[in-house]
Amino acid sequence: MKIIAVLNQKGGSGKTTTSVNLAATLAEAGKRVLLIDLDPQASASLWYGFKEKGKGLYNLLTEDVGFETAIENTSIERLSMVPSSQILAGLEKTLANEMAAESILKDKLHKMTDKPFDYVLIDCPPTLGILALNALTMAHEVLIPVEAHVMALHGLVQLLKTVNLVKQRLNPNLEIAGILPCRVDMRTKHSQEVLDQLRTRFEGQVCRSVIRENVRLAEAPLHLKPITQYDANCNGTHDYRTLAQEILSRNSTPSTETSAHLSD
Ligand SMILES: Nc1ncnc2c1ncn2[C@@H]1O[C@H](COP(=O)(O)OP(=O)(O)OP(=O)(O)O)[C@@H](O)[C@H]1O
Ligand SMILES: [Mg+2]
Repeated sequence: MKIIAVLNQKGGSGKTTTSVNLAATLAEAGKRVLLIDLDPQASASLWYGFKEKGKGLYNLLTEDVGFETAIENTSIERLSMVPSSQILAGLEKTLANEMAAESILKDKLHKMTDKPFDYVLIDCPPTLGILALNALTMAHEVLIPVEAHVMALHGLVQLLKTVNLVKQRLNPNLEIAGILPCRVDMRTKHSQEVLDQLRTRFEGQVCRSVIRENVRLAEAPLHLKPITQYDANCNGTHDYRTLAQEILSRNSTPSTETSAHLSD
């Protein structure tokens, strides 16, 4: 089981679009996927048609209940979800005074006896609070979507520093899965330049896959479908399938790794 946190503290960078559609393309490729929506905005949950179902996640973080109580089935084969809701917004304050609040989800996932998932994807909120820390503490890897715009690069160095701090203090096994250029418009010089800059400044850390600007990706949530089901032949579907293949080709890790990681 591989746990990937989709994180960028910058709002609107493509975290939810990536979590929702990568979850779908990994499931389509035959993998069993759990998508955890850790954002109180609940965009990923709404995308899959869950409205105010996030009490399960709230209870999971605040009460003595098991991880399985928060898992729901989706309409997509092999894809399950832990939905979020606005009630999570008040949680940062509640949990701030609690001991080891950043490892609640990791500990509970570890205690689950049957973990029938190959991939766990976590859609993080655009703030680096207790919720995002829970994601970084339980994750093996961080996938960082960035909008292909020069302004979007500014926060990236700080974000990588934060990930490194978490690695030193909370989760020594944490790695960068990759920086994922999103909303790339190959026709513009600006997009090309930003891509070049990313690949030069963050050499070896940028994904080979690129997610192009595609209006179908922006339309899909209104239809409560991942891009694969909304338009199987558009650029968005093609790009998230390519990303799934890139992730699959890198992560041929045996399932025992998670138990080892989660128990240390
Ligand atoms: N490749 C793309 N092509 C076109 N539109 C896109 C693409 N990726 C994302 N968008 C649009 O950009 C906006 C922001 O994307 P998204 O919600 O995925 O970002 P986010 O990082 O999850 O935002 P937040 O920080 O608020 O959670 C949305 O309106 C989405 O539809
Ligand atoms: Mg989002």
